[in-house]
Amino acid sequence: MPGIKHRMGGTALSVLLAGAGLVALGAGAAQACEQCKGKYEVDGKKSGYLYSMPETQAMQDDDFMNPGTFWVEKGEKLWAKAEGEAGKSCKSCHGEPEKMRGVYPVYPKYDPKTKKLINIEQRINRCRSEQMKAKPWKWESEELLAMTALLGYVSRGLPVNVKVDGPAKPFFEKGKAFYFQRRGQLDMACKHCHIDHPGQYIRADLLSEGRAGGSFPTYRLKWQKLGSLHRRFKGCNKQVRAKPYKPGSDEYVNLELFVKWRSNGLPVEVPAVRR
Ligand code: HEC
Ligand code: HEC
Repeated sequence: MPGIKHRMGGTALSVLLAGAGLVALGAGAAQACEQCKGKYEVDGKKSGYLYSMPETQAMQDDDFMNPGTFWVEKGEKLWAKAEGEAGKSCKSCHGEPEKMRGVYPVYPKYDPKTKKLINIEQRINRCRSEQMKAKPWKWESEELLAMTALLGYVSRGLPVNVKVDGPAKPFFEKGKAFYFQRRGQLDMACKHCHIDHPGQYIRADLLSEGRAGGSFPTYRLKWQKLGSLHRRFKGCNKQVRAKPYKPGSDEYVNLELFVKWRSNGLPVEVPAVRR
């Protein structure tokens, strides 16, 4: 049975993967930024940056050209803005945003209060509701994206460093199982694309290793805006015609821990730019 399943996955994938010769093209794009390798390749793990076209890389490299900078600046404004019944801003309690350096790379982590994982967006919203007595920001709202981008930005260059042992272990295992679980009409798992075929083209996209632990929220040219990691998960679920989960769902937060663990050691590069 596993043999048959495997062949099915293989067929779906060969339909999706564009024809011959493209593998070589992929290698070319990955070589375009040889000097960045030290930064974006750690212990053989490659950030999606190295799978991006040189023009896209250049856009990310230059804060003035990087369209994601707009959200970071918006995040800075929100940081200092008092809202909610407590009449406080993030700044009232936390000082300058730079005080948050080192926080982004360790989320999601185990939260003793809810006895499950909490990711960075949820952590921000907890302070909104509990500390500020303000309304939590909606998932994928400009505000939540901007604040998450700011927290990523102030940790730029630090290695992703999520913990997967201790109380986080069972959630990590769930995330891992999700990653290897076949789903959708194409009956494919995350692993079939991002572990088995990085460097190959699928339709018009060069497949990366999916090691996006330090790069979200990311500015996608396709979206023409910043988007969360969970939005990306939804997109990848839809590519294999599987039903996506809700952003912020336990399933996606567990999956996020696994994806970030695959990126442990890679630098935070928010706001990243991708195709
Ligand atoms: C009234 C004070 C107060 C305000 C206002 C506040 N926070 Fe917090 N925040 C705290 C406290 C206290 C903690 C740590 C204790 C806890 O777990 O709640 C914390 C923890 C955090 C953490 C986790 C830090 C870590 O080391 O893991 C983040 C991220 C955070 N806050 C972001 C924000 C953001 C973003 C805002 C504004 C939208 C904000 N906070 C507003 C008091 C506040
Ligand atoms: C059919 C192939 C396919 C499958 C299956 C797939 N993805 Fe993707 N994924 C892509 C493509 C194409 C992209 C865009 C190019 C790239 O970064 O690989 C992408 C991008 C990503 C990225 C962003 C990488 C970056 O650096 O910006 C993440 C994270 C990701 N996928 C995670 C997942 C997860 C988690 C799953 C399983 C739920 C999954 N993918 C399943 C094709 C796939």
